[in-house]
Amino acid sequence: MRFLMLAILALAPCARAADNTEKKISELIGKMTLEEKLGQLQQLDGSAEGDVPQDYYALAEKGLLGSTLNVRGVKRVNELQRAAMRSRLHIPLIFGFDVIHGYRTIFPVPLGEAASFDTDNAREAASIAADEAYAAGVRWTFAPMVDIARDPRWGRIVEGSGEDTYLGSQMARARVLGFQGTDYSAPGKIAACAKHWAGYGAAEGGRDYNTTNISERNLDEYYFPPFKAAVDAGVATFMSAFNDLNGIPCTGNEWLIRGVLKSSWSFEGFVVSDYNAVKELVNHGLAADEADAARLGITAGVDMEMVSRLYNNHAPELLKKGLITEAQIDEAVRRILRVKFRAGLFENPYAEQKLEDSEILTSEHTMAAKFAAEKSFVLLKNDGGTLPVRDGVKHILLAGALADDQEAVTGSWNGDVRTRDSITIRKGLGEAAKDAGAELTYVRGAGPAASDTDNITEAVEAARNSDMVIAVVGEQQTMSGEASSRADISLPGRQLELVKALVSTGKPVAVLLMTGRPVIINWLAEHAPAVMEIWYPGTMAGRAVADVVFGKVSPGGKLPVTWPLSEGQIPLYYNHKNTGRPFEADNKYTSKYLDITNAPQYPFGYGLSYSTFTISDMKLSADRISKKGNLTVTVNVRNTGDVKADEVAQLYIHKHSGSVTRPVRELKGFKRVTLDPGEMQTVQFTLGPNELGFYGKDLKFAVEPGDFDVWVGTSSEGGNESSFTVLP
Ligand code: BGC
Repeated sequence: MRFLMLAILALAPCARAADNTEKKISELIGKMTLEEKLGQLQQLDGSAEGDVPQDYYALAEKGLLGSTLNVRGVKRVNELQRAAMRSRLHIPLIFGFDVIHGYRTIFPVPLGEAASFDTDNAREAASIAADEAYAAGVRWTFAPMVDIARDPRWGRIVEGSGEDTYLGSQMARARVLGFQGTDYSAPGKIAACAKHWAGYGAAEGGRDYNTTNISERNLDEYYFPPFKAAVDAGVATFMSAFNDLNGIPCTGNEWLIRGVLKSSWSFEGFVVSDYNAVKELVNHGLAADEADAARLGITAGVDMEMVSRLYNNHAPELLKKGLITEAQIDEAVRRILRVKFRAGLFENPYAEQKLEDSEILTSEHTMAAKFAAEKSFVLLKNDGGTLPVRDGVKHILLAGALADDQEAVTGSWNGDVRTRDSITIRKGLGEAAKDAGAELTYVRGAGPAASDTDNITEAVEAARNSDMVIAVVGEQQTMSGEASSRADISLPGRQLELVKALVSTGKPVAVLLMTGRPVIINWLAEHAPAVMEIWYPGTMAGRAVADVVFGKVSPGGKLPVTWPLSEGQIPLYYNHKNTGRPFEADNKYTSKYLDITNAPQYPFGYGLSYSTFTISDMKLSADRISKKGNLTVTVNVRNTGDVKADEVAQLYIHKHSGSVTRPVRELKGFKRVTLDPGEMQTVQFTLGPNELGFYGKDLKFAVEPGDFDVWVGTSSEGGNESSFTVLP
């Protein structure tokens, strides 16, 4: 009781502050004209470089603008903010920007960051990105993207955490906390935005912006939880997605926004549409015309309209006709003002020049970006210890256009990047080779786009004179990201030809894959001695690659997405259902293809190391628990090799049966550990109602009694196995 009283007393000031804010908001709303209210609902775009279109000053001064995107830089932001603060009610603007994996110091792309299986790492990256963005006057990022993506043809798979709901939820939480902390009015913190609400990653055929059809069950079970994790972490805003979801485009989907998000989940922040998405309701064929699109957006609960201006143009007439209500407008204004208050913008509307001068691209930030990049690399194959470079190697050939590309390494959505800041792989490896007393020769060979400068023969000649070859191949950074879906996800250009020619010299060839998605690499997987996925590593690419290739650091990342053998297998994901006829090699009438196996090239959670590990002594705290009970699972992870390295212990469960069918495996815990040679660490996982429950027949989340298998291993393929029962 006493604790309860203390807790209530401790919460009281918070509650009072919240009441106070709501009072202030009510007062403001009471004073606002309809035009001013609609102004708050409008977000307009700056130039890609961050400049402010001239007419925005007048809009801001009249209180007819709520927010901008892309406008950044202290001088520009403050100038426009001053105009807003001169408006009748002195309501500040909120400046948004896509700070996706760094502002100026670019971190690995989010998919790479997810491959680190390290939430502290993701949180730190988001926190540094926020710090730099804040210093440049940005107060709101359109991140994290928490869309589950099971289709690597979809270019935006690079922007999220891959295919898994559990990993995606953990990463969502870490990123929101990284951007916002626990109070996003604090210096160096910015409001986050969970996007794209919802189901955008399930675009049919992997084609961007395409229609999605996802059952309510699958939304609840797979697509929604990362968004819910973002809400639970206090995310300030949501973005409504472009896609048609089960016949109702998300930006006009009242069930989705008002129903699930605002009502069931009690989300208090505001929802911004995606770019022009309100207007696109006409193209979708949901809205009859632009006025109707405004009506649908407002009715659905989209509070702020990005770029198109239909709310402003049509709301007055819609109100007159009784097609929308003033209460709906007031609610949208309230939510936007609430976030502006919570962001501290009313007290602190301006950015400080001294921060912009001192907080961007600091050595602390670039070091963190380097560590994050190292953690993201996934070693897919390493025959005979091809990597790291051995002592005694004197001549190294580096080939591949991507090895010498300062822009590619920063990936898509690279913030306020300055290409000149990034360290290429050629530069990083060149310097590391020199330190190791070796010589590095660079020959382009081939790149993602076939070009006149391709010189495969020259690369082969150079390979013959080398002790070892490193080939950097993959996709240009523009080949993944928004509007960058690919139907053929093999290596583009003549890059495969290049690697084949290099391998045919008989020299040890290590292939570094720079991609924003899994690519089809059957030949490489079979014939190249070593393959390592490095994603787009960011500003410090060259340094991170050098330290891993030369063995100062062992790779320890794991695949956050199943790696298909062929596009024909897509969608391919590890947590699939069993079917009534599970795969049997010798039985034709089982779920399979005639021409290809069901197995992926590499499973979810897979990744090698320069060391070796064992996971053993799995112990369960109980073999029977109640529906409300918890169970701990412990294992010993031991580094059995001879270099310091990381391993990710991964826990998966499978429930034998239920009121609805259960996936063959589901990730429910992971822990990345760093161990010295011979060192052992005990890792503990807890399984309780959150992990064991699921959406049953009635679509309610609950734990159902029954038998579970549990595995702890180093990939989704399993490892130590045990079982337990949840009692009725
Ligand atoms: C993207 C969003 C992004 C927005 C603003 C849209 O095209 O889908 O993810 O935040 O643009 O740049």
